[in-house]
Amino acid sequence: MRMYDLIIKKRNGEELSTEEINYFVDGYTKGTIPDYQVSSLLMAIYFQKMNMRETSDLTMAMVHSGDILDLSKIDGVKVDKHSTGGVGDTTTLVLTPMVAALGIPVAKMSGRGLGHTGGTIDKLESFDGFSVEITEEQFIENVNTKKIAIMGQTADLAPADKKLYALRDVTGTVDNISLISSSIMSKKIAAGADAIVLDVKVGDGAFMKSYEDAKKLAEAMVSIGKNVGRNTVAVISDMDQPLGLAIGNALEVKEALDTLSGKGPKDLLELCLALGSNMVVLAGKAQNVEEAKAMLLKTIEDGSATQKLKEFVAAQGGNAEQVTNPELLAKAKFVYEVKSDIEGYVSKINSENIGLVAMELGAGRATKEDSIDLAVGIVLNKKRGDKVAKGDVLAYIHADDEAKIEKAAAGILSNYKISETYEDNIPLIYDVIR
Ligand code: URA
Ligand code: CA
Repeated sequence: MRMYDLIIKKRNGEELSTEEINYFVDGYTKGTIPDYQVSSLLMAIYFQKMNMRETSDLTMAMVHSGDILDLSKIDGVKVDKHSTGGVGDTTTLVLTPMVAALGIPVAKMSGRGLGHTGGTIDKLESFDGFSVEITEEQFIENVNTKKIAIMGQTADLAPADKKLYALRDVTGTVDNISLISSSIMSKKIAAGADAIVLDVKVGDGAFMKSYEDAKKLAEAMVSIGKNVGRNTVAVISDMDQPLGLAIGNALEVKEALDTLSGKGPKDLLELCLALGSNMVVLAGKAQNVEEAKAMLLKTIEDGSATQKLKEFVAAQGGNAEQVTNPELLAKAKFVYEVKSDIEGYVSKINSENIGLVAMELGAGRATKEDSIDLAVGIVLNKKRGDKVAKGDVLAYIHADDEAKIEKAAAGILSNYKISETYEDNIPLIYDVIR
């Protein structure tokens, strides 16, 4: 087989066979096929597209390019959850203890945050001493005994995706539905998931800016799941404003704790129930999402979700006292009120830019090497549709460096759009694709 022939074939709009897809993924991972030929093929795929069969084959070729986590020693259906990336997205912290409290195994590999989006591991490290550096054996043991464990990515999962993603990033070939969907699904499958619930975000803070594109991506990922024997459900949700109120690590942990005790923001809870209920159904613990939602709500009411989080934090070396007493979490030195200088209704909050403001305060990383400040971030006080009077607080800045406050305040003000009238017609949940 010659890479040159594959490039010509795809350039001319033909379909690549399973063998041909395996050949280029394998050759690129091993370094026997050079970047320039793979770049050329990626550009041909970008214009000529791949069908669902090719996309599923590409996914599995990337899965087999490295380690596949063997979770067979864990009893029950392992349902993973993945978000395409949002701002202030605290769902994993809320969802995982709720689902685990129902006896469903949560065996999760999570990542750190980069750019305007945060990462679950960083947030969890807000608990003093908490560590994701646990061995695979410990991980499996914790899931079997406590139903929940989260580890950092240690195994070499889908190395082909890592290489291809880096190449796509610099060759203008990121935003192709087949390439994105196979990239995301390959990592979830390699991480050992039996079933997958996806949160596909749509809006200016998301990868997919329009509902139509988000729907296409969601449908592609659900089809891949079906083709490769992993039941997949995708929830399409709004990222045209940050989720919940808090953005920043310890601040989001506090928000998650509030939500688990029934005092959290409504949108965060609603999205957690939408995602969680599908996880419960896929795990075979409920007949339908209504039944599953009632079960999940009960874990809040009877305190079992908070109890589960405590157990989980303690099992991974964290200070579980901070779960019952969020006041013990890291606090920023300064809290500054950002006030509106006009009146009206909040008609838009640019989530990507707000995420960047939080990053600059120290809550996130501009490059992988940056360290972060767990205490800092933003807590919104007004969200889309809220009425605002002159002098009302739009948001609170939590900062450790006083010199950063002025710029952050300007950043927040310029990313709040306040209009004379506003009719909120953007749903939190657009659609669920099964
Ligand atoms: N996220 C991924 O993991 N892969 C993509 O291709 C795009 C977003
Ligand atoms: Ca939030």
